[in-house]
Amino acid sequence: MESPVVEVRNVQKVYGKKGGNQFKALNDVSFSMQEGEFVGIMGPSGSGKTTLLNVISTLDQVTSGNIKIDNVDITDMGQDELSDFRSQKLGFIFQDFNLLENMTIAQNIALPLYLQGTPTKDVDAKVMTVAKRLGIEDLLQKYPAEISGGQKQRSAAARALVHEPTVILGDEPTGALDSKNATSLLETMKDLNDRQNVSIMMVTHDPYSASYCQRIIFIQDGKLHKEIHRSATRELFYKEILDVLAQLGTKDA
Ligand SMILES: Nc1ncnc2c1ncn2[C@@H]1O[C@H](COP(=O)(O)OP(=O)(O)OP(=O)(O)O)[C@@H](O)[C@H]1O
Ligand SMILES: [Mg+2]
Repeated sequence: MESPVVEVRNVQKVYGKKGGNQFKALNDVSFSMQEGEFVGIMGPSGSGKTTLLNVISTLDQVTSGNIKIDNVDITDMGQDELSDFRSQKLGFIFQDFNLLENMTIAQNIALPLYLQGTPTKDVDAKVMTVAKRLGIEDLLQKYPAEISGGQKQRSAAARALVHEPTVILGDEPTGALDSKNATSLLETMKDLNDRQNVSIMMVTHDPYSASYCQRIIFIQDGKLHKEIHRSATRELFYKEILDVLAQLGTKDA
């Protein structure tokens, strides 16, 4: 039987203090993601995509509602427990890479392993395995300033994967890439999803990137608008995505 790896139940997120300027960015959002799914989150600018990803990734707190990851309710956890949980279970790929400039690529990739307390003797082998998978094994001794944007993105992806997280979360992971590097990252994510059953949730405004997903959840004004499943080819799914975006009244969702 399939089991949900992420369960979002009646989540609301209100920014701002009571009595001040408040804004409801998420309004009663519920959905779940099964283990091994590759899910896309789309919607117009300001619809709440990043907010949703931030509360799932434990970087921000919900105002009400619950989120379970791997059957553990993260909305009940304290800060220390959360940071342990995050470092064990989650991998992140962000648009701006977040590589630390004064560390080599190898050290950057190894960060989640250090946070997890992986024995030092095992770190190098794990870094090399993931670097080879992403074709960056020759860059390991370089610093972020010495490599290209696409190479940085692959390094950031390597860091997101090295500790074999339960879920990978990406906010516009292909946003800063040219189409060749974007395709290469998407193929890597798809491959991980296909072959290692890694669950992936990705926010994207780009219909081409979204067409790699198995399912897309569209949000509008902080609410679920609709979801679509890929049933046929990626090309057909791409057209379906464009149709929904047109309904939402935006080409650039
Ligand atoms: N820290 C904050 N304080 C107050 N309002 C916020 C804050 N962060 C986001 N918002 C508001 O919440 C809404 C949702 O923002 P969010 O960043 O989730 O949108 P998004 O769907 O990711 O948009 P984009 O596609 O432009 O990245 C927006 O109206 C935004 O202005
Ligand atoms: Mg955003």
